[in-house]
Amino acid sequence: MEELDLKVMYEQDEIQKRIKEVAEQIDNDYKGKEITVICVLKGAIFFTVDLVTKMKTPIKLEMMQVSSYVGTKSTGNITIKKDLESSIEGKDVLIVEDIVDTGRTLKCLKDYLLSKKPNSLKIAVLTDKAERREVDIHVDYVGFVIPNKFVVGYGFDVDEKGRNLPYIGYLEE
Ligand code: IMP
Ligand code: MG
Repeated sequence: MEELDLKVMYEQDEIQKRIKEVAEQIDNDYKGKEITVICVLKGAIFFTVDLVTKMKTPIKLEMMQVSSYVGTKSTGNITIKKDLESSIEGKDVLIVEDIVDTGRTLKCLKDYLLSKKPNSLKIAVLTDKAERREVDIHVDYVGFVIPNKFVVGYGFDVDEKGRNLPYIGYLEE
C-alpha cells in the first residue's frame, strides 16, 4: 500500500488530554440526565469511544452514517446511509462528529434530528475548520479549532486510508 505523506497536527496524548476536558464539560452540563449519543460513522467512532469512556453521565449509543465526501472535495450532497435504530423523541441528544468543515453535513443532520422531536440537541466535534464554514451551525463542544488542512488519522481518512493512525496528521500540499 502506498504510504501517506503526513505531518503531525496533534499527538495521541494531546488528543486524549483534550477529550478528557471536553468529557468533563459535558458531564457538568448534563448532571442527572441520560444522553443519547449519536456517533456519526465512520470517522467519529474513535472520538466517540474515547469521549464516552471518559464521561460519567450515563448514555445510550446510536450510530448514523451520512455521506457527503468523495476524496478531498465536498460534493455538497448528503445521503443517510444508516439511520437511527430507536426513537429520540423527548431524549437529550448529543451528535458526536469528527469534524465541522463547511458545516453542511451537520446542518443537514441537525435539521433531520430536530424533526424527530428530541428534548434537546447538542453537537460535539473533535475538530473545527472554522475558516471553512459556509453555513451557519452552532457547535456546542469543540476539541480543536484547526487550520484549513486535510486531516488524516484518528478516524479521519483519505479515501478510506489512514483512519487507524493514533495521531491526527495532515497532508502536505
Ligand atoms: P462539511 O459538510 O463540509 O462540514 O464536511 C464534513 C465531513 O467532511 C466530515 O464528516 C468528514 O467526513 C469530511 N471532512 C472534511 N474535512 C475533512 C478532512 O480534513 N479530513 C477528512 N475528512 C474530512
Ligand atoms: Mg464524517
